[in-house]
Amino acid sequence: MTAERTRVAIVGAGPAGLLLSHLLAEAGIDSIVLDSRSREDIEQTIRAGILEQGTVEILEKIEGSRVHTMGHRHDGVELRFAGEGHRIDFPGLTGRSVWLYPQHEVLIDLIAARLAAGQDLRFGAHVDTVEGVETDTPRITGTDAEGRPFEIVADFVVGADGSRSVVRPSVAGSMTAGYFREYPFAWFGILCEAPPSSDELIYSNSPNGFALISQRSDTVQRMYFQCDPEADPNAMSDAEIWETLQSRVPGTSLNEGPIFQRDVLRFRSFVVSELRKGRAALVGDAAHTVPPTGAKGMNLAVADVILLNEALRRLLLENDESGIDAYAEAARHRIWKAQHFSWWMTSMLHLSPESTEFDRYRQLGELHAVVESEAGRRYLAECYTGWPFRTTL
Ligand code: PHB
Repeated sequence: MTAERTRVAIVGAGPAGLLLSHLLAEAGIDSIVLDSRSREDIEQTIRAGILEQGTVEILEKIEGSRVHTMGHRHDGVELRFAGEGHRIDFPGLTGRSVWLYPQHEVLIDLIAARLAAGQDLRFGAHVDTVEGVETDTPRITGTDAEGRPFEIVADFVVGADGSRSVVRPSVAGSMTAGYFREYPFAWFGILCEAPPSSDELIYSNSPNGFALISQRSDTVQRMYFQCDPEADPNAMSDAEIWETLQSRVPGTSLNEGPIFQRDVLRFRSFVVSELRKGRAALVGDAAHTVPPTGAKGMNLAVADVILLNEALRRLLLENDESGIDAYAEAARHRIWKAQHFSWWMTSMLHLSPESTEFDRYRQLGELHAVVESEAGRRYLAECYTGWPFRTTL
């Protein structure tokens, strides 16, 4: 078998891997993108839906992007607690907005754009080994969709392959090296056929636990309620699901409709110990996981990619290592801000099984303090709509 040669081997065709291949191609740097999943699987998996304004500004420049035709701009969210709703007005507080545009739609756009541009993009390709990251020619081996072995030699390897990253051990030393936090609750998520129950998202802290009323389109709603991490998504009847959701957003009558998808999302916070070693780096969920309450997951992946793109341009076009040497520290700066925000939104809005009456009253005090202060609302809005992307290293 003869090894193939590329400049950047990107493992993972999620938002991070695909966007990186696009940005590198703009600078004339070729790459191979590999993913163990099928194209259908990638394009159909339901993930989160909120894009920061900065993320939209990157995606809208990509040929064929439907973010403005299919996505919806959201100028605020509602925090609901103690029987009242409080709107956080994003443009009024920050001059920025967010867009509701589901991740699988982003992926459909990116895959189409990359294939149209002639990107070497391989689905069903399993990577088995990543070697030589401390040499100038790291290599990966694996098996393609037809079961044939492959070997790729690159100038750089990128792990954009999600929370079960096969590249992570080569960068961080092991799968688990890093900083973790588990949460004693999860989200029960549904998709249902019914028009949105509210124009904007509602994040509701209720005595029975958290619920989030989101949407996917004019005819489909995405909703979540806090549940036990061990909950079986199929154990509840539709009627029980509606009763649970309705009880968690007192004051709003939810539009009900046929539930066509249900899942349980575990909550975890994680930051890998090392983001880069030699000629390999991690981006997106391969490097970190955030609980979904702050809607930061995909946006954080985009922020990593913008930095790594700059670092790789300098390394591969100018033979200048200063950018790649600065990558980990620069990425970590935003990662920990997003970790904090995601943890904060989660802990402020959920009812922990361990919480005492003191904790419950303190939490309401915190929510009142945030919404009654313009500074508090602005802080939340700045974090939610996203800090400006740093593009220089
Ligand atoms: C979603 O619509 O899936 C969604 C929205 C906001 C979040 C999390 C998930 O914070």
